Amino acid sequence: MAPKAHITPVVDSTSVFKDGLFDGKVLFCTGGGSGICKDMTRAVMRHGADAIIVGRNLERLKASAEELSKGTGRRCLPVQGDVRQPKAVQEAVAKAVEAFGRIDFVICGAAGNFLAPISGLSENAFRTVIEIDTLGTYNTIKATLPHVRVSKGSYIHVSATLHYKGTPYQIHVSAAKAAVDAISAVLAVEEGPHGIRSNVIAPGPIGGTEGMDRLGTKGADGLQNIRGIPAGRVGDVRDISNTTVFLFSDAASFITGHVIVVDGGNEHLRTFG
Ligand code: HXC
Repeated sequence: MAPKAHITPVVDSTSVFKDGLFDGKVLFCTGGGSGICKDMTRAVMRHGADAIIVGRNLERLKASAEELSKGTGRRCLPVQGDVRQPKAVQEAVAKAVEAFGRIDFVICGAAGNFLAPISGLSENAFRTVIEIDTLGTYNTIKATLPHVRVSKGSYIHVSATLHYKGTPYQIHVSAAKAAVDAISAVLAVEEGPHGIRSNVIAPGPIGGTEGMDRLGTKGADGLQNIRGIPAGRVGDVRDISNTTVFLFSDAASFITGHVIVVDGGNEHLRTFG
């Protein structure tokens, strides 16, 4: 049985980090219209950065950009684009630079997921997730890199923990996220001499997100099934956002090429019986 945990409340990043930490900086975030990436964007904006959020659903992006701007007092530009298309990402980058003049931070967050056994997964379904997660990450890096070199900026890739073991019904995402982890490491090593950092955040079970819903844990009843997380609770999007602010800040200036697992200790839990 897991030891009884002391439950630490989730804190808002403003109470831990300096308000003007990212004044004058610009964030480019794919998948920023919803879920974890939207809250990561909110946290970076809250500390002074302007942002561009890229996704496929323009209506949702517009609503999110308005909400993020109102809540933080910073500018947020919504741009429709599919990360699978290099040209779409290049155009989004051009719009970001035209609007804000620079790109300092990049979050590669656009992702796709659903549960499917190998036997029921078509070649196209497998390819679709690889193209969104892996090729989309590559396309985003290629398009942003010239600007991030100028600013000596930093990348965060949103991965997962499910590929550390054989997670059923997740062959497509497991393959895609393992590749994302590898891409980030190579980026860190190649671009380190240019002053660029690249890290991965691997969220564990984060409540209230589309990713969790799609893995069959929708609502309070579903979350009851996630037992024994050492931290004593399910994760919150703010847990990922706080890690984001830290990794983009100078406090993390010697941290690059790493995967930061944010899962309340879940990966270390071994149960007997
Ligand atoms: C089996 C499925 C399927 C399912 C789609 N497909 N859903 N196969 N089971 N549930 C198949 C389709 O039949 C098709 O194959 C192929 O996948 C492409 O489907 P489309 O709908 O045409 O693709 P598209 O419109 O591009 O949609 C992509 C998507 C979709 C991934 C399928 O779900 C999506 O856009 N999701 C984005 C939002 C999302 O998933 N967010 C959660 C990310 S969370 P055929 O052979 O029929 O042509 C996340 C974190 C994971 O990634 C870790 C959590 C812990």
